[in-house]
Amino acid sequence: MSEASKPTLLDATGRVAFVTGATGGIGQAVVRMMLDAGASVAATGRRAVPFDDDRVLPLTLEVTDEDAVASAVQNCVDKFGRLDYVIHMAGTVGKGRLDQMLLEDWNKILATNLTSAFLILKHSYKHITKPGGVAVLCGSSNGYNGGSYLSGAAYASSKAALTNLTRYCAKEWAPDGVRAHLISPGPVDTPMLDRLSDEQHDGLKDALPLGHYATADECAGAILFLCSSHAASMTGTNTNVSSGLVLDA
Ligand SMILES: NC(=O)c1ccc[n+]([C@@H]2O[C@H](COP(=O)([O-])OP(=O)(O)OC[C@H]3O[C@@H](n4cnc5c(N)ncnc54)[C@H](OP(=O)(O)O)[C@@H]3O)[C@@H](O)[C@H]2O)c1
Repeated sequence: MSEASKPTLLDATGRVAFVTGATGGIGQAVVRMMLDAGASVAATGRRAVPFDDDRVLPLTLEVTDEDAVASAVQNCVDKFGRLDYVIHMAGTVGKGRLDQMLLEDWNKILATNLTSAFLILKHSYKHITKPGGVAVLCGSSNGYNGGSYLSGAAYASSKAALTNLTRYCAKEWAPDGVRAHLISPGPVDTPMLDRLSDEQHDGLKDALPLGHYATADECAGAILFLCSSHAASMTGTNTNVSSGLVLDA
């Protein structure tokens, strides 16, 4: 097959992506791949977004703040004139036993992982391209299997709830031709895993049938596929990128 006739994962020429968590491992990979696919990108984080590119609009965003979410989405549309892909990767992890968990920490994790997704979907809806827009949220293998003290009850619960938020949106937005997806990684080699000890890393890798963590690029590749015309008849899906950790999802 000649180079010119190779199928591309996503041709996003002239399209616009809004990406949260663009200072983190998976979000950065999504921004890079979206740029490679031809998109312009509103890239958001609480820290400075590490992209210096004319096609990137860097935005500071606290995803639990409704006014901030509404104005970040509006800034994206004001700058680029449209919104095609909403990729919500911002998230935070917990730890420890349920009986030791503070209500304050529970609320913070639910707000960051779950309520933020509601806010981003809510404020994207009026702008997202109809038909053709795609939203991708970020779950976790913890959302399938209940998780453990390594991530805590709030994390597992928030990621499980995203499954149904995705399905809800998929049904509500299908008549507009807008699709909604969840991607659920197992352990991914990003700064989120820096909290684990060497022993915990070894234990986690031993539990993975494929024996290795996923990479941020693999997650980004799955997200670009879900945004692409190859997935035009898919919506409400939960993509399992867990290196075989969860097989009965
Ligand atoms: N890495 C894994 O093993 C793994 C496994 C399953 C699922 N996931 C999910 O994958 C997604 C991306 O995680 P990652 O692995 O890329 O981790 P990461 O490198 O730690 O990135 C986390 C990102 O979330 C952002 N964030 C956190 N709280 C925020 C808030 N309140 N407002 C705005 N942004 C906030 C961070 O922004 P700042 O740094 O700018 O504050 C950062 O960009 C998360 O939803 C995570 O739960 C990760």
